[in-house]
Amino acid sequence: MIYKIKIIIRFFYFSLLDCVRSFSGDLALSIAEPLGNGHNVKFLMQDRKGKKWVVKVCRNTGGRVPDICEREKTTFLFARLLGLSVVDTFILPSDCFSKLIPADGDFIKNKVVALPYIESKNIKEFVATNNIISRSLFSDSNDVANIFAFYDWIGDEDRGTEDFLVRIRDKKVFLIDHGLSGPGQSKLLRSAHPYPENYNADAIIKKCYPGKDSFFDYIFLTIGINVNNLCNPPIIKLIKNIPNFIIRRYSKNSRILDYEHFALELATRKNNIDRDYKKWLEEAKGKVEEMIENKI
Ligand SMILES: Nc1ncnc2c1ncn2[C@@H]1O[C@H](COP(=O)(O)OP(=O)(O)OP(=O)(O)O)[C@@H](O)[C@H]1O
Ligand SMILES: [Mg+2]
Repeated sequence: MIYKIKIIIRFFYFSLLDCVRSFSGDLALSIAEPLGNGHNVKFLMQDRKGKKWVVKVCRNTGGRVPDICEREKTTFLFARLLGLSVVDTFILPSDCFSKLIPADGDFIKNKVVALPYIESKNIKEFVATNNIISRSLFSDSNDVANIFAFYDWIGDEDRGTEDFLVRIRDKKVFLIDHGLSGPGQSKLLRSAHPYPENYNADAIIKKCYPGKDSFFDYIFLTIGINVNNLCNPPIIKLIKNIPNFIIRRYSKNSRILDYEHFALELATRKNNIDRDYKKWLEEAKGKVEEMIENKI
C-alpha cells in the first residue's frame, strides 16, 4: 500500500510540475550544430536564454516504428515516476526546425524530440578515456538491478553504452534514447525494435542490438559487477504498484499509436515482474559465466 501511495503522490507531483513548466525553451532555437553519432540525426541548439538543447530528428525505419517520438516520451515519464535518472523529454512540432529535417530518408517529418543538453560523455566515450573512474559509476548494485528490471518491464532491447550519459560535473548517470522501447508487435522481443528478425538469443538476453557495444557487457565484463548481487531490485516494488490508471494515462496522453495494447501489456507485465525478472537474471547469469569461461 505504501508503495502505491508513493507512486500516486509522485504522479500528481509530476503532473503539476509539467503543467506549470511545459517546454521552457524559446521555440526559436538557434545555432544548430550536428551532435553525436547514432541512427537518428541530432543537433545541439541554444534558446534565447542561452540554455542548450539537443533536438533529435528520428528515423521511422521502414515505417516500422511510427510512434518513435511518443515512445521516447512515454518511457521518460515512467522512468521519472519510478525515480530513475532521466533527461526531461519533449515532443515539439517540426515547423520551427524545417531546415533541420533531412528532405530524403525515412524521417519522422512533423515532430522532433527535444531534451536539455547535458555536459557529459556517454559510457562508451567515458570508458575509452577514463576506465578507472568508470568503476565507481555503479558502486551501488541496486542501481544496476533497477536499470535492468525497468528495461525488462518496459521492454528495451537497444541498450548500448552510448545510451547512458555520465554528467561531467558529478559523474551522475542518465538513461537516454528510449524511442524503440515499450511493447510492440513482435512476439520475440519485449520492445518495439524495428528489426526483431536480426536478434538472436544472445542479443535478447543482453538487451542490445547485435554488433553494438552493450551496456550488459560493460556492467558484467568491463566493470565486473556480480550478477548475483542483482537479485532484488528495489524498483520492482514500485513497478508492481503502479496503478493501471497511470499506465493508461501515460500511454494515451503521449499518443502511443496502439495505446490500448501498449497499456494492457505493461499492466500484465507488472503482475508478472517477479517471474520475468528472475527468468532474465538466470539467463544473464548463464551468459556471463559462459563469456567468462570463453574469455569473450
Ligand atoms: N541530452 C543530451 N545531452 C548531451 N548529449 C546527448 C544528449 N542526447 C544525446 N546525446 C549524445 O548523442 C548520442 C546518441 O544519442 P541517442 O542514443 O539518443 O541517439 P540515437 O541516434 O537515437 O542513437 P541510436 O543509434 O542508438 O538509435 C549520445 O551518446 C550522446 O553522445
Ligand atoms: Mg542510442
